[in-house]
Parts: sequence; structure tokens; C-alpha cells
Amino acid sequence: MKKIKIKNKKKIVCLTAYNKFTAEIVDNYCDLVLVGDSLGMAYYGNSSTRSVHLDDIIRHGKSVRKGIKKSILVVDMPFGTYRNKNDAKKNALKIIKEIKCDAIKLEGGSNVVKIISHLVKNNINVMGHIGLLPQKVKSKKDYKILGKDKIEQTKIINDLISIQKAGVFSVVLEGVKEDLAKKIVKNSTVPIIGIGASKNCHGQILVLEDMLGLFDKVPKFVKKYFNLKKEVSNAVKRYSKDVIIGKFPTNKNIYR
Ligand code: KIV
Repeated sequence: MKKIKIKNKKKIVCLTAYNKFTAEIVDNYCDLVLVGDSLGMAYYGNSSTRSVHLDDIIRHGKSVRKGIKKSILVVDMPFGTYRNKNDAKKNALKIIKEIKCDAIKLEGGSNVVKIISHLVKNNINVMGHIGLLPQKVKSKKDYKILGKDKIEQTKIINDLISIQKAGVFSVVLEGVKEDLAKKIVKNSTVPIIGIGASKNCHGQILVLEDMLGLFDKVPKFVKKYFNLKKEVSNAVKRYSKDVIIGKFPTNKNIYR
């Protein structure tokens, strides 16, 4: 696998995509596109990311691959697919072979160091994920911002240091207080991509559907750039009315 080196001159722009059509759009404006296991929540409507299986991420990853021309394509390793070194290697290689992605991402710090080292030694590009770890969360109410006390801060800084040593090429930092984010960036030797981790990070990532405004409720760290729910709702309402009053199909939509 070709080693990834992200140029760190400007802020690194990242978004998620779950299919070819959204991938084609985000590829134009992003440095990195993630097939995230947020798929379970943002696409399938489940209460956590733990419902996503290897087959799901591969199916969506293959579709996303078709839409990516230039961005780095990273794919999440689903919950339960990297419990030990052998499983991690077998499943990562399957993801890479089937999707032809550039890297995989997995969650954790000191607890996954051996797994990351093993993958890196086997020529696999690994992105880390520290701070709030969605795969540890069983329902939406368990989401909690981290870094409030010294113990939490030290743990997350140690997580960063250990996964850097193991060879990650970049790290997602999720859901931490700004002063911890600053410390993480200070201790980093690889680009830190923040989500709910302040503007101090080297780059930012969001779930596409969150920033497009598909959902009423989103975490504070999301900025809505569009109101997809409202716009789609208005369009469907107009269509429904047109069908009922016979305004659709029009002459333009009829084969003669
Ligand atoms: O699953 C996901 O989409 C993620 C990002 C939001 C970082 O891990």
C-alpha cells in the first residue's frame, strides 16, 4: 500500500460519504473522504454506530469509491472487527481489497496500540480516532464531551502519543474541550482532524447529512449549511399537490 502523507500547509477538509453520488460532490472540495460507521445512525437511523457490519461498510465503500477521483479515501473498521491482531489484519485487508480505499480508521488509544502496530507493519495505512469514541456509546444519550478534568486529559494525550508511536498517519479527535484540543495539537506529530474539537486542529470533519441539515437535532459542534429536511419536505409537498390536482405530469413529461 502506498504510504499516505497529508500536506499540512493549509487546513485539511474532510467529510463523510456513504454513496457514489454524494462522494462525487464532496470529492471536489475535500482532501479526505471517510466512509464512516456513522452510517448506522445517519443513514440507517439506528441509535449507535455499533449496528454496522463489515458487509455494510464494504457495500457503501464500493459505491463511494466510484465517486472519488482525487481525495484520500478512508474507511471505518466497524465495531467488533478488530478485537485482536489477526481479526484486524484479515478484516482490514478485506476492506482494502474490496473497496480499494487508501486507508482504514479505527477507534481507541493505548488499548489498540498493538493492533495499529500490526496493521502498519503489514503495510496498511491507519487513521486513529481518540477522544469521544462512538463505538463505545450504546445510545445517543451517552454522548459526552471529554477533557473536563486532568485525569481525562492525561489519558487522551497518552492515547495520542501511543497511537502516533504505533504509526498512524493522522488522527480524528472527537468531542473534547478546546483546551485539551490545543494540548493534543501541541503534542501531535501527525495531522489532527477535529470533530467537536475546536478550530485549533489541523483539519475538520463532519458527517455530511448533519451539515446539510437532514436532521432536526444535531450536536452543538455541527454547523448546518443547508436545511435539507425543509427543502425536501417542500418539494415532496408540491409534488403531492400537483399529482392530486392533475398538474403533474405536464405535457413535457408525457410520451406521444
Ligand atoms: O463514523 C464517522 O462518520 C466518523 C467521523 C464523523 C469522524 O467517525
